Amino acid sequence: MANIAMLGYGTVGSGVVELVCSNKDKFVKGMNVGLKLSKILVRDIEKYSGSKYRAKITDNFDEVMKADVDIVVEAMGGVYPSYDYVKRALESKKHVVTANKDLIAEHGAKLLDIANSNGVELRFEASVGGGIPILKSISDCLVGNNIRSVKAILNGTTNFILSKMNDEGMQYEDALKAAQELGFAEADPSSDVLGLDAARKLSILSTMAFQKKVDWKEINAIGINDIDSDDFRYAKGRGCSIKLLAISKMADESIYASVAPVMVRADSQLGGIHNEYNAVLVEGDAVGDVMFSGKGAGMMPTASAMFGDIADIIQNRKENPMMFDYEPADMQNLWEKESRWLLRVRSGSRIEVMKKLGDAFSNCSILAGEFGAEGDEVAAFVKAKDESQIDRCMDDLKGSIELKGFKKIMVLED
Ligand SMILES: NC(=O)c1ccc[n+]([C@@H]2O[C@H](COP(=O)([O-])OP(=O)(O)OC[C@H]3O[C@@H](n4cnc5c(N)ncnc54)[C@H](OP(=O)(O)O)[C@@H]3O)[C@@H](O)[C@H]2O)c1
Repeated sequence: MANIAMLGYGTVGSGVVELVCSNKDKFVKGMNVGLKLSKILVRDIEKYSGSKYRAKITDNFDEVMKADVDIVVEAMGGVYPSYDYVKRALESKKHVVTANKDLIAEHGAKLLDIANSNGVELRFEASVGGGIPILKSISDCLVGNNIRSVKAILNGTTNFILSKMNDEGMQYEDALKAAQELGFAEADPSSDVLGLDAARKLSILSTMAFQKKVDWKEINAIGINDIDSDDFRYAKGRGCSIKLLAISKMADESIYASVAPVMVRADSQLGGIHNEYNAVLVEGDAVGDVMFSGKGAGMMPTASAMFGDIADIIQNRKENPMMFDYEPADMQNLWEKESRWLLRVRSGSRIEVMKKLGDAFSNCSILAGEFGAEGDEVAAFVKAKDESQIDRCMDDLKGSIELKGFKKIMVLED
């Protein structure tokens, strides 16, 4: 018998309980192992007085630890007390499955170390991309590749908001409200819209892909809260839409990693990912480009990934136990590849701005007509040798005229 304890019985936890109960005999044939739910930890026990699992529900973690438990499934969220509970479970030689990217991005290496030294497993497939089996694909199926780059839509909330702005011409505030009404955005959406959630997921993904520790706090994260309908108008003029892209790539011995709104061709693979869906485009030196897409959140998709981890533990399918214990990456914050950028500059002197942009970039097209800028703004697509060329040009402009506003958005053309 494999005894399973749940920490958390909310959206994800109740999905896992459903899958554990509906699959309780899955491993009987062949392995003679049945699944049993032993305890469920919640914060507010009164909320669950009518639950059919009432007898198993507790608000006391010590009771969970005293029960017969082989696998602890953490679906509480937050870093504390989740960290303490997961640590205690591992030290008591219980396997742990978690969906908690905050916990793994912050303490993954330490917890994996504790798991290894106690001879148990810590698994976290659901922490990145919800139901998309991306971590296992990188560590197992693509193990023969040197991963060159990862380009991903890792946050369903922001992809939903940007889809509404692109497809229905909604303003940012209205699209955010629609996302909240439909349950795709939390009451406090800051971690999603500021790109922090995607940065945490990118740090987990990049650490595994490049086998260097990528600290999420070192990832340059720009959110979508400053994206407006003019950005979409300019993007459409180039056949593009705007996505919050998490990008990481190996460049010589260092790693570039960022989360930012990026223009992608509307007919590209990432351009075709709409609403709350997630996608991860991985480039390996042997396999080339492989795309993973699906539901990046939600009760059953996330539970599906967690159940896969439970099944791996029961079937004793081990991943590389050292997979998080890597040297810190040498991080690079600026995009070093030649690329096109949209520049939007607001100033008291449009003529001066147009002249400066024309002088700074050999390839510069000032937008006019239907897709052109209005008022005191100059909008242009420029081709820059690297991102520092853009920053130098803006510093130059700031030194010579009074700038009222500036925005840059990269165009991903490959
Ligand atoms: N929701 C998704 O689609 C999704 C997708 C991927 C990953 N995740 C991750 O999965 C985790 C859970 O998310 P969720 O959406 O299921 O959260 P949720 O609906 O808010 O559920 C959280 C559950 O944990 C319990 N809990 C919270 N703090 C606790 C504490 N200190 N002690 C005991 N119990 C506590 C809550 O108990 P009460 O009910 O008594 O408050 C509740 O049952 C998070 O790490 C999240 O990032 C979620």
